[in-house]
Amino acid sequence: MSDTQPGKNVPKEHIHDGIVEYDNDPPLWLTATFILSMVWGIGYLLTMHLSVAAKLGPEKLQADLAELAELRAAKDTGPLDEAAMRALSNVPERIARGEALYATTECVTCHGADGTSDSNRSGPNLRDRWWIHGSTMEDIARIIRDGANNNAMPAQGRKLSNQDIANLTIHLVSLARQGDRSGKSADPTREREAPITY
Ligand code: HEC
Repeated sequence: MSDTQPGKNVPKEHIHDGIVEYDNDPPLWLTATFILSMVWGIGYLLTMHLSVAAKLGPEKLQADLAELAELRAAKDTGPLDEAAMRALSNVPERIARGEALYATTECVTCHGADGTSDSNRSGPNLRDRWWIHGSTMEDIARIIRDGANNNAMPAQGRKLSNQDIANLTIHLVSLARQGDRSGKSADPTREREAPITY
């Protein structure tokens, strides 16, 4: 390939194994790709690593799962299952709704405003690692819905929607995630240790 332009295809002085190197500028497509990849790289760095706009990795997965669970929950009128409630358990609106419900329904009367109960109240502490009826989200939602101990814990299933029972459960789990609080223990012969670690 010969090129008659001055300054083009001028061999450099060094020769390796008989191979001669020209001192030409890189082709335009290579320079352009190089510059574009740098521009793209800076954009990527800004949006994916430094900016608050994009959620990443586990956080993004959480958000997607919550969105999916919301879509499913909106379609289905039945009780929410464990997977759906867990996926929704960090959604701030759900926690807030559960907290508001807890405060305005009768829960406070028997479990206390902060859920730890006391000797003047009939319900057990809901913020320790000891549970009578289990500590999965389905366990907690079931007790809220169906009640327990001959309605000493009154069933809420007729008063509250499945969504709100899930929201109350989400609120209780978000409290439990803050760590154990002392309060009125339930009958020790019926309680089992089941800390909320999920
Ligand atoms: C009239 C009193 C009363 C009211 C009102 C009440 N609870 Fe209870 N709750 C109890 C008692 C008593 C128990 C223990 C039941 C048992 O001994 O099996 C209990 C148990 C529970 C449990 C299971 C605890 C465990 O250790 O397994 C949950 C969860 C719970 N209540 C949530 C709620 C929520 C949420 C509300 C409000 C919607 C509520 N309760 C309203 C008295 C009450």
